[in-house]
Amino acid sequence: MQGTYVIAGGSHGIGLELVRVLAPTAAQVDVWSRTAGDLPAAASVHHHACDFSQPDGPLPELPERIHGAVYCPGSITLRSFRSLTPADFRQDLEINLLGAVRFLQACQPRLEGVDGGPASVVLFSTVAVGQGMPMHASVAAAKGAVEGLVRSLAAEWAPKVRVNAIAPALTDTPLAARLLSSPEKREALAARYPLKRVGTAADAARLARFLLSDESGWMTGQVLGLDGGMSTLRT
Ligand SMILES: NC(=O)c1ccc[n+]([C@@H]2O[C@H](COP(=O)([O-])OP(=O)(O)OC[C@H]3O[C@@H](n4cnc5c(N)ncnc54)[C@H](OP(=O)(O)O)[C@@H]3O)[C@@H](O)[C@H]2O)c1
Repeated sequence: MQGTYVIAGGSHGIGLELVRVLAPTAAQVDVWSRTAGDLPAAASVHHHACDFSQPDGPLPELPERIHGAVYCPGSITLRSFRSLTPADFRQDLEINLLGAVRFLQACQPRLEGVDGGPASVVLFSTVAVGQGMPMHASVAAAKGAVEGLVRSLAAEWAPKVRVNAIAPALTDTPLAARLLSSPEKREALAARYPLKRVGTAADAARLARFLLSDESGWMTGQVLGLDGGMSTLRT
């Protein structure tokens, strides 16, 4: 897939897998994150240091034109409502919502599709917005705000830019490492899904690639569940 992409949070997890998928054919893939992680040594891939937990921190330079922008930084805060403080809610809003807002406000003037088509933006929600789950109050509230942002921006930016989100369930990335830290935990969690496994970074990266590509050219304002059937099926 040709074009120029900016992937916030492309150094680990789903974002890194997406960079690996895009790098061989893209003209340029700029990755913004705190560390360079295991980025592929491809000529198209460039790392820029950036920390979205710092509300006033500087943002890196952007390419002249951006065909696709993806914001991956996020959290899995699993705590009872009783134990959550307002500061915990603010922290989740900062990384999941306000970081995405800053990123997209920076990108907006440069978003432009290939050959006159729309540019594409991809954000990340969670299965826990559409389906209530205990211990998810803080992250579900923040990701619910992300879903509102997706639909509002999709309306405001049509027809020039498409805006969609992916709502994964448990996906095997560094973010979820603690939850999947033993074969027993992994097996017990996999059993909760109709498809009997947790997600992989590749599952999510392939969907993100589809949303960036012209193959999804008539989709905007959508939040796509990627959850092994968890949110919609009872088996
Ligand atoms: N994994 C799951 O089970 C799961 C489930 C539901 C939803 N999601 C959502 O899916 C998205 C991707 O998740 P993931 O599992 O791939 O996460 P991940 O493994 O933690 O990777 C997150 C990426 O964002 C970067 N990042 C984190 N904090 C940052 C900050 N303050 N400033 C700049 N970059 C930052 C990380 O790089 P550095 O550390 O180098 O900065 C990394 O490249 C997230 O929004 C997450 O909430 C994930």
